Amino acid sequence: MNLPHIRFIQVPTCDAADPRAELASGLLRQPAAVAPKFFYDRLGSALFAAITELPEYYPTRTEAAIFAAHQADMAAALTSRLGPHCTLVDLGAGDGAKAARLFAPLQPVRYVAVDISVDFMHDALRGLQQRFPAIEMVGVGLDFSLQLELPAGVLDGPVLLFYPGSSIGNFGPEAALRLLRQARAAAQGGALLIGVDLVKPRAVLEAAYDDALGVTAAFNLNLLRHVNRVLRSDFDVRDWRHVAFFDAEASRIEMHLEARRAHTVRWPGGERRFESGERIHTEDSYKWTGTGFEALLGDAGYTRVQTWTDERGWFAVMLAFVA
Ligand code: AVJ
Repeated sequence: MNLPHIRFIQVPTCDAADPRAELASGLLRQPAAVAPKFFYDRLGSALFAAITELPEYYPTRTEAAIFAAHQADMAAALTSRLGPHCTLVDLGAGDGAKAARLFAPLQPVRYVAVDISVDFMHDALRGLQQRFPAIEMVGVGLDFSLQLELPAGVLDGPVLLFYPGSSIGNFGPEAALRLLRQARAAAQGGALLIGVDLVKPRAVLEAAYDDALGVTAAFNLNLLRHVNRVLRSDFDVRDWRHVAFFDAEASRIEMHLEARRAHTVRWPGGERRFESGERIHTEDSYKWTGTGFEALLGDAGYTRVQTWTDERGWFAVMLAFVA
C-alpha cells in the first residue's frame, strides 16, 4: 500500500558523473585516489554503523550528546526566526534516525531525506511515516557532493538544512565553502544546522581512525570490493593494508590503502601497476577549530551563527541563518 504522504525522486547523475569513468581516472592518477562515497555499499554502510559504536570513535556519540543537551535551545532559536512549520532537509540522511530525533522538538511539516541513492531509503521512510503520520516525507536520491540542487517542488515554507555527523569534513576548505554556498542558496532564506568535528590531540584523532579491533581497517579495505563490482577490476584485499594518520599542517585525517607487494590491478580497458608501499588515497576528514568553521560560515554568507559544543570541546553543532 502506498501511503499518501510519501514520495521518492531519483535525480539522475549526468554522464560526466559515470562512476566507472570516475574510478578509472582516479586509479590512474599519481598518486591514485578513490572518492570516499565508494565506502558505502551495503557492507560498507554496516561497517560504518559498527565504527560509530567503537569506544575510539567519539564523533557520533559526542554529537548525539550535544543534540540531547541543547535541542530545546536549538528549536527555540529556529522557531523564533523561521516560525513553527519548517521543511527539514536531511543531507546524507541514511536511515533518518538522527533527523527523527529532531521531529518532536521541531515539528517540521515536511521531511526531505537526501542521499546518494533513493534505493536504500524506502524502508526507512516508510517506517518514519508510520511513526510520524503528520509529517509529509520525500526521499531524494542525489549526489549532492557534485551539485547541491534540489528538484523543484520538494521545498515548502522555511527550510532547515540538516547536515550532521561532520560529513562536511570530507571536503577541503575550498570545496566546503562551495558546498556551504550551494546549501545557502538551497535553504531559501532558512537555516543550516551542521555538525563539525574539531581539532584535538593527535592520539585521540588517530585512534578514532585506526581502532584496536580493525573495524576502520575493514571499512577502508572493503572499498576495494565495491570498486571491483563497479569497475570489474581484480583488486585482492589481501594485497593491501589500512593506513590512517593526522596531518596537522592540513588539519586532516588522511586514510590510504597501501600495497603490501608490487602488483598490477586490471579492469576492462585499463590497468595500473602499484609498487610495494604505494598508496591509494581514500579519504580526508578535516578537523576545524570552532572559530575557523564559524569564519567559514561567514565567508559562505551565513549570519547569526550559534555554536554548541561538549565539555571537552571535541565536536561542535552550529546553527547559522541565511538572512
Ligand atoms: C562519515 C565522513 C563523518 O570522517 O569521521 C569514519 C567517515 N571514515 N571512519 C569521518 C569515517 C573513517 C566519517 N564521516
